[in-house]
Amino acid sequence: MKYALVTGGSRGIGKAIAIKLARELGYNILLNFHCNIEAASATKRLIEIEGVDCKLLQFDVVDAETTKRTLENFIKNRPDAEIEVIVNNAGITRDGLFMWMKPEDWHSVVNTSLNGFYNVTQPLIKNMLKRHYGRIINIVSVSGLKGNAGQVNYSAAKGAMVAATKALAQEIGKRKVTVNAVAPGFITSDMTADFDENELKKLIPLNRFGQVEEVADLVSFLASEKASYITGETININGGLYS
Ligand SMILES: NC(=O)c1ccc[n+]([C@@H]2O[C@H](COP(=O)([O-])OP(=O)(O)OC[C@H]3O[C@@H](n4cnc5c(N)ncnc54)[C@H](OP(=O)(O)O)[C@@H]3O)[C@@H](O)[C@H]2O)c1
Repeated sequence: MKYALVTGGSRGIGKAIAIKLARELGYNILLNFHCNIEAASATKRLIEIEGVDCKLLQFDVVDAETTKRTLENFIKNRPDAEIEVIVNNAGITRDGLFMWMKPEDWHSVVNTSLNGFYNVTQPLIKNMLKRHYGRIINIVSVSGLKGNAGQVNYSAAKGAMVAATKALAQEIGKRKVTVNAVAPGFITSDMTADFDENELKKLIPLNRFGQVEEVADLVSFLASEKASYITGETININGGLYS
């Protein structure tokens, strides 16, 4: 059985991606989340409506040991399962000016996005390479490309993921495993719930925030066989905010 793993898949962009990968590509879903079990269970039910299996995997992507153990246990207990797609979506913000940035705000943001990418992807990559097929998609941000005042930590974490995407793509392209990044601008989700859309949309040529389904459509394409000749890329999805 073919599975797609989506980290931070219980809410927001990750939730939309997990549903789309089930609906459009027929993948069974490994749905990772951190602590909100109600949201994860509700998303699992929506995925199951698509007629695929959905397994909840609760772990903190920051915790390397637990992440590795959980993924290895799944592989050991399910020899029939192939994890063909990894979407590294789990991410947080802890915004503030660098001058006053506390160490925990620096480390938690870098640990979740960048180290989460390592902790999740590294234990799974050997099997992908053996099978000569795979898709790794990293959800980064416009902040990681242009930099954003008040988000030095987040910009650094996402920018490093862009570099890791390019490097890993070069390492494993020969095995037909592609690695790409998707860089959203302002997308309506819990993460942007406190943002003033009426003010911010003036900066966006398309004059609105994006929807999680729009990001999921792009990820679904990159996860499909149709995207076989795209690797090492970072694709913007930001309404024209930055290119
Ligand atoms: N929204 C935007 O405008 C925007 C723009 C650019 C990039 N992005 C990126 O897109 C991704 C998703 O953002 P979003 O807006 O959908 O965020 P969100 O609505 O806040 O959802 C975050 C998801 O990540 C999970 N998560 C957080 N920390 C985790 C951890 N340590 N381990 C495992 N799961 C964790 C949460 O699980 P729980 O429910 O258990 O907490 C939740 O499912 C992030 O990487 C973000 O940086 C978002």
